[in-house]
Amino acid sequence: MEFKNIVEERWATKHFDGKKIDEDKIEQIKEMIRLSPSALNLQPWKIKIIADENLKEKLSAASMDQPQIKSCSHLLVFCANSDLEGNADRVINNLKTSGIPEENIQFLKSVLNNFLSMLPGEAGICEAQQNAFIPAITAIYAAKSLGIDSCPMQGFNPAAYSEILELPDTLVPTIIVPLGYAADKPMPKVRFPKEEIFF
Ligand SMILES: Cc1cc2nc3c(=O)[nH]c(=O)nc-3n(C[C@H](O)[C@H](O)[C@H](O)COP(=O)(O)O)c2cc1C
Repeated sequence: MEFKNIVEERWATKHFDGKKIDEDKIEQIKEMIRLSPSALNLQPWKIKIIADENLKEKLSAASMDQPQIKSCSHLLVFCANSDLEGNADRVINNLKTSGIPEENIQFLKSVLNNFLSMLPGEAGICEAQQNAFIPAITAIYAAKSLGIDSCPMQGFNPAAYSEILELPDTLVPTIIVPLGYAADKPMPKVRFPKEEIFF
């Protein structure tokens, strides 16, 4: 599928038909998500994938009973990972085994340290949350490229999700993306005209 068609034909699905997505396709979507870009390659996210019906039932109640949660095949919960220092260490360690020259690694390390020093406390969480949207967007287009429908969603209670999923404090549920096969039809695309967007 051409990327142009993927963009034009994706819509925010409200109801899924309950059919399960093949695990092979889920793995392909996971790999495309994994390649998402992030600031300084910190990849400050963890993504919980839920296919269990009981868990979806509980999460539905924490998502304003929106029908996507129970009817989807897989629910992706994109959590911002506020442990930026931990991720920075992991990125540097991965670079050490990648064949990149040591001086380049040391330069990146100093850039990373400088970057992190500007993001204390809440600012770090905010940075991680901004980044967590990027793999979620990858997910919706990756899914569409495989014939799978989706809906980006923020209509849920992050605190309730944390409790139900027993998440550590470092992870903040930020955006969810149910995946499946649509049982609804797209509405017309209503967008501002180009002249009002680009200047
Ligand atoms: C950050 C974000 C949060 C959203 N939250 C919800 C939601 O909670 N429930 C829902 O049905 N749609 C949700 N949507 C879908 C939007 O309503 C939808 O993308 C928009 O109306 C444009 O329609 P389209 O995606 O079908 O073109 C959300 C979209 C985004 C990007």
